Amino acid sequence: MGKPDPDVMKRAAAERAVEEYVEPGMVVGLGTGSTAYWAIRRIGALLSSGELREVRGVATSTQTTAQAGEAGVPLVTLAQARPDLTLDGADEIDPYLNLIKGRGGALLREKIVAAAGGVMVVIADESKLVDPLGKGSVPVEVDPFGWESTVEALASLGCEAELRREPPEGPGSEPRPTDGGHYTVDCYFSRIDAPRVLEAEMKRIPGALETGLFLGLCRAAVVGRGGPEDVEVREAGSPGP
Ligand code: A5P
Repeated sequence: MGKPDPDVMKRAAAERAVEEYVEPGMVVGLGTGSTAYWAIRRIGALLSSGELREVRGVATSTQTTAQAGEAGVPLVTLAQARPDLTLDGADEIDPYLNLIKGRGGALLREKIVAAAGGVMVVIADESKLVDPLGKGSVPVEVDPFGWESTVEALASLGCEAELRREPPEGPGSEPRPTDGGHYTVDCYFSRIDAPRVLEAEMKRIPGALETGLFLGLCRAAVVGRGGPEDVEVREAGSPGP
């Protein structure tokens, strides 16, 4: 028998994380993407059945705001409360629980929420486990002003840097804006052996607002490895390179 659909693993991981980490009265940072979606749905279902009470969410994107509305999860802003916990997906997770995020286009708000307080728990299917980081792109959110020179500066760090467009090419292809009206540049390295050094170098570029490297932010990973019961929980150990 082959592996189940990644969506089955994402759902299993998200639901287990809600069971293990969400407690009554908590403010929960709600991530963006197809895995976070299942966590939002589960929190909504537990609130409506009365099994969970007084949980409020902080949304990391307009997509998440809409999903929380549909699921019946009340939202607050960071002006009103700080998260006790953030549940979010990731594009890559290394053995130290350092992450790459942002291929879904929401990294700046995701990082603001994850860093605003509480504990970050990442939820994912097993295809996201890598060693080292860098299998795919590191997304970087950039200011639209002078993006051409920001792309050049990012490329000078040794990657192929590509402005994210929609559609990706052809007539009518335009830079794809984030919820905050910024652009995203995808930076392709073949591997990243020193993520902290890379992050510092990227953040020295004035037009680079934030990177998709989430280093030392994540406390635990809940990873779907098969069917609904096949879920692994990993706690962060050493901070890594
Ligand atoms: C959104 O910008 C991303 O950081 C997502 O959290 C990440 O791409 C994971 O997405 P999926 O859960 O859809 O795989």
